[in-house]
Amino acid sequence: MRPLLIAPSILSADFGDLRADVSAMMEAGADWVHIDVMDGHFVPNISFGAPIIKAIRSATPKLFDTHLMIAPADPYLKDFADAGSDLISVHLEAGPHIHRSLQAIRALGKKSGVVICPGTPASAVAPVIDMVDLVLCMSVNPGFGGQSFIPSVLDTIAGVRAIIGDRPIDLEIDGGVTPENAASIVKAGANVLVAGSAAFKGGRSQYAANVAAIRKTALSAR
Ligand code: DX5
Ligand code: ZN
Repeated sequence: MRPLLIAPSILSADFGDLRADVSAMMEAGADWVHIDVMDGHFVPNISFGAPIIKAIRSATPKLFDTHLMIAPADPYLKDFADAGSDLISVHLEAGPHIHRSLQAIRALGKKSGVVICPGTPASAVAPVIDMVDLVLCMSVNPGFGGQSFIPSVLDTIAGVRAIIGDRPIDLEIDGGVTPENAASIVKAGANVLVAGSAAFKGGRSQYAANVAAIRKTALSAR
């Protein structure tokens, strides 16, 4: 069984003091740094790009999990690799050549991930499953933090889990994750939980409690 990991989304962090905030969250017990890159084209919102990732790279040695919500993605993959991403995920819906994008990420020496939106079936990842280290299932429509979890995605998670089989591939879920729904998400087969609002709410003094609360209910389902 893959380890259960909590990946706070820095979209909900304090952008005015980002490096320190990322550092505080990781010291509070989080496992990965989830980094949401948005272009105002593939998704209806703009966040930040590679220079910001480079600026926070020294905040923690933990894994930088870069979720690209950009189209096209291929021209920028090297920038995101050079900025310090350890894992780079691209949306299956963001372009016509997902196979090429995944090849390019691995050629840069990085772990690769494929992302599917809530309206995309689990079966869509099957043709590229041996090219990825991670499958990310969106449980909200990408673009904004603080949205509600879409329950039909539980079936998608179970479908992806079946496709993964016993391959050493992580299954990540992103959007609307809370301590209340973490158990059902893990029961469906996910092992990496992204959390933005639920991880960062209440400020730095609450980070450890927030991460622990998600982890506790998530682990109860294993
Ligand atoms: C949505 C992003 C998510 C989001 C998660 O486009 O990919 O990572 O910020 O935030 P919450 O947990 O608040 O839904
Ligand atoms: Zn994300």
